[in-house]
Amino acid sequence: MLKSVLRMQRSLAAEIMDNPQISEDVWQRFHHELGYVHRALRNHRVIVRALERDPKPVRRVLDIGCGHGELLHEIRRALGVEVIGVDLRAPKRSVHGIPIIAADAACDRLPDADVAVCLAVIHHLSDPEVVALVRNAGRSVRRLIIVDLVRHRMPLLLFNVFLAPFLSPDFAADGRQSVRRSYTPEELRLVIERALEGSNAHFEHRVTPIRSRQIVDISWR
Ligand SMILES: C[S@@+](CC[C@H](N)C(=O)[O-])C[C@H]1O[C@@H](n2cnc3c(N)ncnc32)[C@H](O)[C@@H]1O
Repeated sequence: MLKSVLRMQRSLAAEIMDNPQISEDVWQRFHHELGYVHRALRNHRVIVRALERDPKPVRRVLDIGCGHGELLHEIRRALGVEVIGVDLRAPKRSVHGIPIIAADAACDRLPDADVAVCLAVIHHLSDPEVVALVRNAGRSVRRLIIVDLVRHRMPLLLFNVFLAPFLSPDFAADGRQSVRRSYTPEELRLVIERALEGSNAHFEHRVTPIRSRQIVDISWR
């Protein structure tokens, strides 16, 4: 009973920042606010830790859907590794001169790297696009760390109470839509299993107790 009350249908309605017509300045402001949210949720820190714990050498990190490059800036500062980003919309100005290539990660050839990270991107994609992105990444890296939101009323409530009051109204609206658009852990697990079917990859899937994020950590042998 409680489960059905808490259940939310996935909404695929676009967010404001998906509009390719928005100006570079507005786009940069959105990404600046997104960086604030990631820091509040410790998403960058969690990714840096996962990279630090990699048992194999990490010399080059690729960020898929990197926005203006803030996560890569943090990774380069913390680990001193080479970094490169791809995004559908490569910005004119990246953060601290991070190299960013314009590419569709579901179908374009990605730059080679040891590990790819993919933060707050897959909720923008359909199931077949997530499958294509994961398989495509597997051609360029040996490990892919996906971090995204969880579709559930709890993170929506926490976002509204603790973060939205400090954000611009448009960004807050996109934040709420991002939660409604994201995968439940059960859905994401199924999509990842489909993407890796027949491959030599294995993955771990973790969800925070307050459902503020889910992490899928895939390794190809
Ligand atoms: C919510 S933003 C996240 C940006 C950044 N990862 C972060 O967390 O700060 C989603 C980003 O994914 C990019 N994106 C969406 N679909 C993509 C695709 N198929 N290939 C590459 N980038 C994509 C968008 O252009 C946008 O910059």
